Amino acid sequence: MQYLFVTGRNPELALAEALSLFEKMDIDVTLSASKTNAFIFNTRKGIDTKKILTLLGGTIAIGKILCTGDLSEIENFIETEEVYFGQKNNFLYSCLDFADEGGLNTVLDALKQKFRAEKTKARFKSIRGTILMQTGDVVEGTPSKISATDITYFLFKDKNYSLGFIEAFSDSKEMEARDMGKPVRREHLAISPRLSKILVNLSQTKQGQTLLDPFCGIGVILQEAIAQGINVVGVDINSTATDGAKKNIEWTKNKYRAKATFKILVADSRKVSLQNIDGIATEPSLGTLLKKNPHKKVAIQMQERFENLMIQVLNNLKNSLTPQAKIAFTAPYINTGKSRLGCNIQKICNATGLQVHTLKSKTPKFPVCDFRPNQIVGRDIFVLKKNKRN
Ligand SMILES: C[S@@+](CC[C@H](N)C(=O)[O-])C[C@H]1O[C@@H](n2cnc3c(N)ncnc32)[C@H](O)[C@@H]1O
Repeated sequence: MQYLFVTGRNPELALAEALSLFEKMDIDVTLSASKTNAFIFNTRKGIDTKKILTLLGGTIAIGKILCTGDLSEIENFIETEEVYFGQKNNFLYSCLDFADEGGLNTVLDALKQKFRAEKTKARFKSIRGTILMQTGDVVEGTPSKISATDITYFLFKDKNYSLGFIEAFSDSKEMEARDMGKPVRREHLAISPRLSKILVNLSQTKQGQTLLDPFCGIGVILQEAIAQGINVVGVDINSTATDGAKKNIEWTKNKYRAKATFKILVADSRKVSLQNIDGIATEPSLGTLLKKNPHKKVAIQMQERFENLMIQVLNNLKNSLTPQAKIAFTAPYINTGKSRLGCNIQKICNATGLQVHTLKSKTPKFPVCDFRPNQIVGRDIFVLKKNKRN
């Protein structure tokens, strides 16, 4: 089976997340092709695209490939095989274009002829919109929120053309409602629900296991985990934040009728004592809020403060972790105006005995960065794990 994954503005992170989720779910996949904002995965067994899409933060739609070949083979497939699976005689269709060297018009003509021959009242709706990628590139033809028509086809071109249709769309309204509707919000330290989902998936913590956020703030990451049925533990040094986390997690538990449990502690994660943690997903304090690009010296000092905090926290927590536990965290990625500076992960690994996790596919490699073109402090995203020797 072949599936198309359409990603948002950070395809590398979306890929790392999807591969981590597949590893956790024991789904064997190979990446067979990629475009700026789309991937094709091959799987031996079919996957539940709707369920997988609700779990992912970085993917906005998943489609199933119906046919691969040259353009005449695609035309022939459209002419001879079933390509509309709905019940309506009067329907709206659209087509996402990942075949930048053309081909779309041929496919649209073939579809038009097919629907005319079948005497269906099918109407075509073109899809407009762009995605601003984190690289600053603008991708035409894929809006960042794809709204479904009765059937949304896609045409992808790698060595060959692939025609398919989108089975699952990300529900951006639902994501927004979850973000805006929670009882306690904290704009200045906000992490988005999408990035929170990504961190939970990178940690590979399974349903019924326990995930820790040692810098839990008002609990946005923990909300995403508990909605998936993962038990959560949150720690924050600030009791106003933990009060907020309790309210937000209770709200999520009720909204999603989640059976998983939660425990929120006011404590210093450099000293707190915990047990049986199966994974960590967290956004530590990334440093002072900056209004302009800092001098390199200042950026280095900020990174040193971050590294020292992480060394103390990880040294304290590493013995609370089960052997397979993964630690997914964000680190500051500071734009000095001339270059971007990440933290010294080797220093953190040397001081804690932890190591950078590598996906079975070997790529993408951590860290994966996540930033907006004008952002002063973006994020480097790491996944660490225990070294077999410790
Ligand atoms: C960037 S915020 C995390 C935001 C969080 N993801 C949320 O949803 O609100 C970092 C948090 O770490 C907390 N913090 C800083 N140092 C800490 C420490 N040593 N132990 C525990 N929490 C700490 C801060 O109080 C702050 O709430």
